Amino acid sequence: MKAVLCKAFGPPESLVLEELPSPSPGKGQIVVTVKACSANFPDALIIQDKYQFKPKLPFSPGAEIGGIVKAVGEGVTAFKGGERILASIGWGGFAEEVAIDADRAYPIPDKMSYEEGSAFLMAYGTSYHALKDRAVLKPGESLLVMGAAGGVGLTAVELGAAMGAKVVAAASSEQKVEVAKSHGATAGLVYPSGEMSRDEQKAFSDAIKAATGGQGADVIYDPVGGAYAEPAFRAIAWKGRYLVIGFAAGDIPRLPLNLPLLKGASVVGVFWGQFAALEAEANRTNVKELLALYEKGAIKPHISARYPLAKAGQAIRDLMDRKATGKIVVTMGA
Ligand SMILES: NC(=O)c1ccc[n+]([C@@H]2O[C@H](COP(=O)([O-])OP(=O)(O)OC[C@H]3O[C@@H](n4cnc5c(N)ncnc54)[C@H](OP(=O)(O)O)[C@@H]3O)[C@@H](O)[C@H]2O)c1
Repeated sequence: MKAVLCKAFGPPESLVLEELPSPSPGKGQIVVTVKACSANFPDALIIQDKYQFKPKLPFSPGAEIGGIVKAVGEGVTAFKGGERILASIGWGGFAEEVAIDADRAYPIPDKMSYEEGSAFLMAYGTSYHALKDRAVLKPGESLLVMGAAGGVGLTAVELGAAMGAKVVAAASSEQKVEVAKSHGATAGLVYPSGEMSRDEQKAFSDAIKAATGGQGADVIYDPVGGAYAEPAFRAIAWKGRYLVIGFAAGDIPRLPLNLPLLKGASVVGVFWGQFAALEAEANRTNVKELLALYEKGAIKPHISARYPLAKAGQAIRDLMDRKATGKIVVTMGA
């Protein structure tokens, strides 16, 4: 079987495609014939040794898969060969086959494709955990989503709208804002994609306030960080919740602590991978609720580009170059 390997930490261009022996399932594991694996921003970090999880070299990146159960290990009763599954696996997905712990997999609904299955768990799982469990978002509240056309951002837009919030999408281009509006945002703002001057930061805060009727945003969902964070926080509402999702812009922002004081506001950390590990039952409940929302058509992964396995590095590069909207998926056998 073929796999894309990270043999030395570096940029996506340093990944190599190699032939490897097929894996065997260990105790409690299944081997999956991978049909699709989506790219996520953490792939860009993990191959550069900049992520929380640090697999041993060599390894395949690729955190989310859709595929077919090929073999079942000792003690696995939940799955049998031939079943269609989706799974969040951390890494190992940019390969034709992968052995995974069976408890990371879920059956794919009949009407969901392998591509959609590979683009589901991490993005929706993160945004649902953030909005439902961490922000306790209520119907009628305003939700500002930064990076609103990105992988996790677009799912926050869809879920926020499905939960009855008034969603304001912020992104680096009109085209990205339009994508977010077509997924449920009712207002949009464009922020500069380069350095932000003081005036631009003030204009960004003012635009958020204007888009939320002068009140500021009740909840801010931020997977971007960098220089956008402080002006966004300055436009949070009284008792607002600022969800710290990630730092795609590169810099981890620092916040003057007088700002949460003045607004009676909370800075709320969100770490879906750790939530799924430490609160497995609560995560399973969330995934079931998300699959039900998919079944009734309230959410649907937006796949903007597809690459064959040999070009998995390009999928990661597109994320790093801010070229993607929604998800990019690598399909096997193409
Ligand atoms: N906390 C968690 O549990 C969790 C789970 C999953 C992902 N994450 C984090 O969430 C962030 C987004 O992940 P993702 O998979 O959604 O990524 P993505 O699809 O690449 O989206 C990231 C967005 O960030 C914006 N951005 C701003 N500056 C950027 C830059 N210099 N390079 C790239 N993008 C930039 C882009 O939107 P604009 O061009 O519109 O600004 C882009 O759409 C990452 O930091 C990731 O590690 C966290």
